[in-house]
Amino acid sequence: MALVASSLSVGVVAHGASATGRRATPTASAPMFAGFRRVNGAPAVLTRDVEANSMVSLQASVRATGRGGCGAVRMAAQARGTGKFIVGGNWKCNGNMASIKSLVADLNAGAVNCDVDIVCAPPMVYLPMVKNSIDSKFEVSAQNCWVSSGGAFTGEISAEMLVDAGIPWVILGHSERRSLNGESNEFVGQKVAYALGKGLSVMACIGESLEQREAGETMNVCYAQLKAIANEISDWSKVVIAYEPVWAIGTGKVATPEQAQDVHAGVRAWMRDNVSPEVASAVRIQYGGSVNAGNCEELAMQEDIDGFLVGGASLQGDAFITICNAAQAHYDVVKAMA
Ligand code: PGA
Repeated sequence: MALVASSLSVGVVAHGASATGRRATPTASAPMFAGFRRVNGAPAVLTRDVEANSMVSLQASVRATGRGGCGAVRMAAQARGTGKFIVGGNWKCNGNMASIKSLVADLNAGAVNCDVDIVCAPPMVYLPMVKNSIDSKFEVSAQNCWVSSGGAFTGEISAEMLVDAGIPWVILGHSERRSLNGESNEFVGQKVAYALGKGLSVMACIGESLEQREAGETMNVCYAQLKAIANEISDWSKVVIAYEPVWAIGTGKVATPEQAQDVHAGVRAWMRDNVSPEVASAVRIQYGGSVNAGNCEELAMQEDIDGFLVGGASLQGDAFITICNAAQAHYDVVKAMA
């Protein structure tokens, strides 16, 4: 944790903004991030630097976005994608009827102070209940769906069923499904394409393991995961990319703001080079991995962190609301950079 604490100041200083005195800005005055990003610059090159305490720490030797200096892509005002901050709550396989009712009550009572998309993903069996009881400031998401239409696929749920049940979102390619259920990059790409084809919006997860990071493979792993999706789809307007380093998921070892920014910038550069500058500019990239009420603001202040996918802390209503309100810190930084 010392690594996290010492690195937080890097993110704050890098953006020349203070973390104090900026809270509780009402929605009406929240500056909106209108699809204006720097997507030119050198490709991301990460160097290996494993700290003595065995906690991983990679520093970028080259910034992918040329922050503060390179050219920018300004999208037409009507262009898809607003850069609106988006926070997902992945409840995973947690809760029961009573605890989920209580969590929904806490969320409904929470004050969201800025313009942010919020998507809660309860366990499948509770989806209808949550959808019918959660406040309209929240959308709901499934945590998975099948790769094609329904049939003899015991235990699966099809995209058509989600649409039929009024569920607009699905999380696909989460590392727990990749590792525990053997979902390959290609399979995830096909699932993303199928879900989009049925009208769902998708939070598509990518991210490297500790071994891969220590081997200097972080960006290659992310690029391969992205490519498998890009091979299957052409319209990214309903895709949010969730960068979730596997070593940070549920471990309390959050990536430093700089580590996360480096990968997010690399992902955006890859999108620019392999999809289009417009999509690279518009696509939202969430960070996931031990995000909590204490570290969310510094992470949100990174230029290319457009939201979070939150596991453990999404099960606590007050913490999750705090994380959603960290969007304001992002808007403030983006506004200062414009
Ligand atoms: P965590 O999980 O916040 O508990 O690390 C994140 C996720 O798996 O989406």
